[in-house]
Amino acid sequence: MSHTEGALGLDELARMVGEPPLAGAPDPRAFDVQPWTPPNALRRDLGLPESLWVVSDRRPTSGPLAPEHVMGVGGASESLATITPREPVAAALDLGCGSGVQALLLGYHADRVVASDISPRALWCTALTCALNDRPVPELVLADLAGPFAPDEFDLVVSDPPFVMAPEARHVYRDSPAPADTLTARLLADIARILRPGGTVVLLTSWLVPDDGDWATRVLGWADAGRWQRLWAALREQVTPEQYVDLWLLDSGQGRDAELRLRWEHHLGAMGAAAIGFGWVLGVTSAGAADEPSGGIWAEDVRSARVLPTGAQVRAEVDRRQGLPGAADLLGRGLRLADDAVLTAVDVGGHAAAADALLLSMASSWRGPQPLDPALSWLFARVTADRDARVGRTITLAELLPACADDTGWEAADVLVSWLSGVRDLLGAGFAALDGGPGPARQ
Ligand SMILES: C[S@@+](CC[C@H](N)C(=O)[O-])C[C@H]1O[C@@H](n2cnc3c(N)ncnc32)[C@H](O)[C@@H]1O
Repeated sequence: MSHTEGALGLDELARMVGEPPLAGAPDPRAFDVQPWTPPNALRRDLGLPESLWVVSDRRPTSGPLAPEHVMGVGGASESLATITPREPVAAALDLGCGSGVQALLLGYHADRVVASDISPRALWCTALTCALNDRPVPELVLADLAGPFAPDEFDLVVSDPPFVMAPEARHVYRDSPAPADTLTARLLADIARILRPGGTVVLLTSWLVPDDGDWATRVLGWADAGRWQRLWAALREQVTPEQYVDLWLLDSGQGRDAELRLRWEHHLGAMGAAAIGFGWVLGVTSAGAADEPSGGIWAEDVRSARVLPTGAQVRAEVDRRQGLPGAADLLGRGLRLADDAVLTAVDVGGHAAAADALLLSMASSWRGPQPLDPALSWLFARVTADRDARVGRTITLAELLPACADDTGWEAADVLVSWLSGVRDLLGAGFAALDGGPGPARQ
């Protein structure tokens, strides 16, 4: 269907949609139709056209957005679309569908797509977005969060929910209906219920960072580890309360509202927010098999990442985390670096290089160079030297531990603590693999 960008009136809308996707008519304000160029990796993986149409509300040229405003594609929508694993699935849910961009994309790899939102106008936008791109209109459900869905209904749930912590919930497209940052905990519990065993959720979210800076304990505390066989919380950006308020005031066209600014900053202060983190939570529910390999929940600061991971990289990441050996097993194994992993010295101020603080980089990884502590630096320098010298035999970590202690004079117990957590993280990230085990996936 051909179309040009701009306002779309009700008559045209009625002709396009044919059978109304919802009872009643949408409110008569015109919709905004804009072209959207999906990120390259997504285009390639899903076989998308160069450009897709997206229907939303038109941003007013000045003044605040209406409370029921439906946003078009923004940075968060693109992030969620990018990191969502795209293997074929039977049933997928876009929870809080807004313009419908996620539901549209799910239609390329899910047999059944459900799009839900608390806003009827958002459901109209979703129907129109799909119709304008000549794609089937998903099942549209007017719903408050995951409320109406059945246990085990979906293989995949994606959501960029309204997580903004505002003094009052005014804008439906973003303001959290739950106190402070508790929406994510509630969503994780609800979504675990509606996912099939082995199902996946990809959720964008935001959280309060307390004075001590420990964001991870708080976020991982929301996970019911029994249901989530693997759960990965990633910190992508952290802002001060002032930056946070600025960001959202500008977003809703309220940048000049000094009274709201003050009230909002006070609101965050009263909640004990030293900072606010943004990121994603990716969870995989237990497949329920008796011989299921171990999983785990982990938090990671990915602010140094070069780019966002693609859906395929995200899937590889959570797959690698399955069945990682425990401490005793790990000590009995050798390590091997990924083919394109390179160890470099940290350049201190452009003058001297610190020999005991190395960086591990990998050209094919979405992550930036990984700084290694001295104990890990020693280990990876040794593994690299053995690789270069083509030492044929597997040298286990248990053998390397006394060698490291002898060589450096460090306590073996301290070295062990560093190795056990650091090596598992680097295995999960694909920078290294266990010798004799399956090779690290290309990133
Ligand atoms: C940030 S927008 C995300 C839109 C779209 N999925 C995207 O990726 O661009 C959040 C959406 O959640 C919807 N929403 C707000 N409160 C909700 C609730 N209680 N239940 C379901 N959806 C809700 C809003 O109407 C809005 O469409």
